[in-house]
Amino acid sequence: MIIGVPKEIKNNESRVALTPAGTQALTANGHTVYVQDQAGVNSGFPNSEYTDAGGKILDTIKEVYDVAEMIIKVKEPIEEEYDLIKEGQIVYTYFHFASHRPLVDAMIKSKAVCIAYETVEKKDGSLPLLVPMSEVAGRMSIQQGAKFLEKPLLGKGILLGGVPGVAPANVIIIGGGIVGTQAAKMAAGMEANVTILDIDLDRLRYLEDILPANVTTLYSNQYNIRKLIADADLIVGAVLIPGAKAPNLITKDMLKDMRPGTVLVDVAVDQGGCIETCKPTTHEDPTFIIDDIVHYCVANMPGAVPYTSTLALTNATLQYAIQLADKGWKKACKENAALAKGLNIVNGKVVYKGVADAFNLKFQDPSSVLN
Ligand SMILES: NC(=O)c1ccc[n+]([C@@H]2O[C@H](COP(=O)([O-])OP(=O)(O)OC[C@H]3O[C@@H](n4cnc5c(N)ncnc54)[C@H](O)[C@@H]3O)[C@@H](O)[C@H]2O)c1
Repeated sequence: MIIGVPKEIKNNESRVALTPAGTQALTANGHTVYVQDQAGVNSGFPNSEYTDAGGKILDTIKEVYDVAEMIIKVKEPIEEEYDLIKEGQIVYTYFHFASHRPLVDAMIKSKAVCIAYETVEKKDGSLPLLVPMSEVAGRMSIQQGAKFLEKPLLGKGILLGGVPGVAPANVIIIGGGIVGTQAAKMAAGMEANVTILDIDLDRLRYLEDILPANVTTLYSNQYNIRKLIADADLIVGAVLIPGAKAPNLITKDMLKDMRPGTVLVDVAVDQGGCIETCKPTTHEDPTFIIDDIVHYCVANMPGAVPYTSTLALTNATLQYAIQLADKGWKKACKENAALAKGLNIVNGKVVYKGVADAFNLKFQDPSSVLN
C-alpha cells in the first residue's frame, strides 16, 4: 500500500503520525511510505531518519495526499485539507467528529474511509489510542503544577516535596483513572503528600494497592472535597464521565476557602472541566488568576512535549496502521473488532452511532460498508 504522512498544519501541533521506526516496519512489509518534508522535525525526527528507514520525502502536502492510498495523521483535517482527501482514501487520525459539523460534512462529501483514533475500542471498553495522551497529560499535570506553584509564576511559593525539616506540599487529585493515576505517581515520586479521590470503589482499592505510602485514597464527594481544599497547594481535576460533560466538583464559591497561590490544573478541561472557573487556555498563555487562585487549563497538554507524545501515540497507533496496510481496511476491520470501532464515516455513510446522533444524521451499520 502507498502510505502518506503529511506535516500537521493545525496551529501549535508538533507531533507526527509516523516515526522512522514505524516507517521501517511498514517498508519491511513491502509498503511505500511518503513523508512530507520536515513532517517529523518538531518531534525530533529529521528527513534523513525517514529516508534511512526506507521512506521517501515529498515537498508539499498536496503531493502526499495525491499519491497516498492511506493518510496517517495526528489531528483532524482542517479546512485547507478537506479538498485534498480523495474518494476511497483511508484517513487514519484523531477526528473528534461529534464536536465539528463542517468536518463531518466534508468527510461525507469526500467519500473517504475515515478511521478515528478516539473510537478504536477494545472489548473491555478501553480506548487504546486515547490512553497514551492521558498518560502524558497526567504526568505533565504535576510538572506544570509544581512550576506554577513558584512565586514568580504567582503560585504560593512552595516546593512540592518540601525539604528535610519542612513539610511537603499537599496535592489533591480528583479522578483516579489514567490521568489521575499517572499524576499521583509523579506527585508521590516528588515526595508530596498526595490524596486521590474517585467514586469507583474498585478503582480506589486498586490504587491503594499499587500507589506508594504517601498517597491516600479517598471516596469522592462534596463533603470530602470541601474539607481537603482548605489545605491544598495543588489540585488536579482528572474526572471523566464517558459521553458527558465533566461535573463541576469545585465551584466558584469554593475558591475563597483556598489559600492564595493555590494552583488548579484542570486536565478535564477538554470535556468542559470539573472546576467551574476553568476555561480552556493555550500553551502560549496557559494560566489565569481568579480570586488569587492560579488556574492552568490547557486543552492540549501533550502538544507541549511532542518528543514524548509522538512516541507514546505511535507506539499505540502503529499496530493498527500495519494491519490496515497489510490487509486493506475491510479485511483488517473484519478481523479486528477494536479497529472496526474506529470506522466513523465511510464512502459518504455515517457508520458511528455517536456521530450520527450528534447531528441527527442517518446511521448505517458498519456491516453495510464491510461487505
Ligand atoms: N487537557 C489535556 O490535554 C488532556 C489530555 C488527555 C486527557 N484529558 C482529559 O482528562 C480527563 C480524564 O481522562 P482519563 O483518561 O483519566 O479518564 P478515565 O476514564 O481513565 O478516568 C476518569 C476517572 O474519573 C472518575 N470519576 C467520575 N466521576 C467522578 C467524581 N465525581 N469524582 C471523582 N472521580 C470521578 C472515574 O471513576 C474514573 O476513574 C478526560 O476528560 C480526558 O479527556 C485531557
